[in-house]
Amino acid sequence: MSNKLGFIGCGEMAGAIIKGILKSGMFASSDINASVRTGKSASTKSKHLKIKVLADNDYVSKNSEVLFIATKPNQVDEVLNEIGNNADNKLVISIASGISTMHIEEKLQKSRVIRVMPNTPSMIGEGISGICRGKLATDEDEKFVVELFTSVGHVIIVDEERMDVVTALSGSGPAFFYQIFDDMAKSGEKLGLDYEKSLKLVLQTAIGAAKLANMSEVPLSELIQSVSTPGGCTEVGIKEMHNLKSIDLFSNVIEKTALKTHSHG
Ligand SMILES: NC(=O)c1ccc[n+]([C@@H]2O[C@H](COP(=O)([O-])OP(=O)(O)OC[C@H]3O[C@@H](n4cnc5c(N)ncnc54)[C@H](OP(=O)(O)O)[C@@H]3O)[C@@H](O)[C@H]2O)c1
Repeated sequence: MSNKLGFIGCGEMAGAIIKGILKSGMFASSDINASVRTGKSASTKSKHLKIKVLADNDYVSKNSEVLFIATKPNQVDEVLNEIGNNADNKLVISIASGISTMHIEEKLQKSRVIRVMPNTPSMIGEGISGICRGKLATDEDEKFVVELFTSVGHVIIVDEERMDVVTALSGSGPAFFYQIFDDMAKSGEKLGLDYEKSLKLVLQTAIGAAKLANMSEVPLSELIQSVSTPGGCTEVGIKEMHNLKSIDLFSNVIEKTALKTHSHG
């Protein structure tokens, strides 16, 4: 019997999407199956996600209506060669960073391809995904993919040339924020507050600030002003960020990540 969604590769990101989709109720466990490289990993993943997971790309690609390519970028070519005609006339959604729709279409000439850059907060319905479509994908395909990823967070449609920037900002972005949270919590610890309490202050401040910025109608510069008294402590901190050129730090981080993404192919 044909499954609705088939994931080729079921690691961190596919697992996050699957958890988010199941939580949203858009598809049931029985609608989703996946394949991985080894039998051992298949049984671990199957227990964890409560879906059918096999070490059999041929079976999953033959028996799924919509296919996800969710292996690491350097494993994609091997997988595309393997699934070949099984993907004919199907919608293929690739989440592999740096792999263009054109590259996938060269290997799967009769597939309708959509490329998505999701992120791991999708697992709790707080993701954001950038989406672009290949030459054969239809309006209906795009509508389906937007609906699917909206069930696990937010979606923006972008030109394919901008997917590297999306990858750096939001695909890799959670890791950059985790690094900032850790740096800030360690700074609090250095001044005598224990790490757990420092981290709690940092995380809730990040959640609150992000929510406020998201709903606010004023620019970020005004929100900064609203926390800063002239000559006060916040102003000293912001000046120190400028002195240390935080803009250069983040520009370099985003630029280098985007360039590395691009080098995948
Ligand atoms: N992680 C993120 O935050 C994130 C965000 C956005 C996009 N992405 C993209 O998502 C993709 C997957 O990343 P990930 O972090 O989820 O990687 P991962 O955790 O390493 O998962 C890779 C999965 O691919 C499977 N696999 C490897 N070779 C295979 C083959 N020949 N046939 C079938 N399955 C195979 C692995 O199976 P085994 O377990 O058996 O080895 C594993 O389940 C990447 O292309 C990445 O660019 C990731």
